[in-house]
Amino acid sequence: MDRPRILVTRAIFPDVIDALSQHFDVESNQDDRIFSSDELIAKAAGKDGIFTTPSERIGADVIAACPTLKAICNMAVGYNNIDVAAATQAGIIVTNTPDVLNETTADFAWALLLATARRVTESEHWLRAGNWNKWRYDTFLGADVHGATLGILGMGRIGQAIARRAAGFNMRVIYHNRSRLAPELEARANHAQYVGKDELLRSADHLVLALPYSPQVHHTVGAAELALMKPTATLVNIARGGIVDDAALIAALRAKRLAAAGLDVFENEPAFDPAFLTLSNVVLTPHIASASEPTRRAMAQCAAANLIAALTGGSPPNILNPDAINKG
Ligand code: GLV
Repeated sequence: MDRPRILVTRAIFPDVIDALSQHFDVESNQDDRIFSSDELIAKAAGKDGIFTTPSERIGADVIAACPTLKAICNMAVGYNNIDVAAATQAGIIVTNTPDVLNETTADFAWALLLATARRVTESEHWLRAGNWNKWRYDTFLGADVHGATLGILGMGRIGQAIARRAAGFNMRVIYHNRSRLAPELEARANHAQYVGKDELLRSADHLVLALPYSPQVHHTVGAAELALMKPTATLVNIARGGIVDDAALIAALRAKRLAAAGLDVFENEPAFDPAFLTLSNVVLTPHIASASEPTRRAMAQCAAANLIAALTGGSPPNILNPDAINKG
């Protein structure tokens, strides 16, 4: 029998390519070229599976143009880059990589929160520019983290991991989510208290966004929401670009209607709004919240395991659309 043919859309760990090659004819992209959508369709045509990353949009057009596809395996927990409904309709399995990145991503949310509240990168840039010639009582005064109120919008597994870490900072945790957590999960998440979205925005000293992107949450934090926040508050986004209205955020930060923001994700990334670069009260990172060595490896291995199971008759551990199987 012919071996299944797969496309790996971006550079990944060479040993993961080797593992995939034991099962499949692999077309890899270790040069890490960014494909146009026409190139992506041309490369995916005739393949049985795609190993992809959140940077590639696998829309209904790709799915319609590739009738041999049986599986699309994303190396990410988020999967808003894939048209899951179109895939299900076409009998194509879609998988993601949940759980393996929860703790690492929560660590990074805290790195951004602390750096933002205590002005770590801003003061480092100032020091590197040779400005430090005396001690002053008011050099880079920031906001306290310990004892403050931490707000979390999106209380899934990553949100809960962020909340647990707040215990060490003696913080009150409030959260808003599509649905309230079971009491035992709230207790484990540092006794997080469920509140309405407006109350979350009004009461948080530090607000962290940890919700998945969908069109329903596009610009869920826009001008009106930012206006509810304390002017002393900070905002951290480790979730997805598009959840925040970046233009509204830039306006709020510029006018100091919000103290500072720590952002790992942006609208239209990597071509983010250059106005961010003109602001001193932001910490900007290039979508690296899950980027520890062990975790990125675990994500790649998880995506590969899903693809191998999907194309060799097994059950992919992280299938997002079980209905696709009956259609296939
Ligand atoms: C990264 O952004 C992910 O969704 O895993």
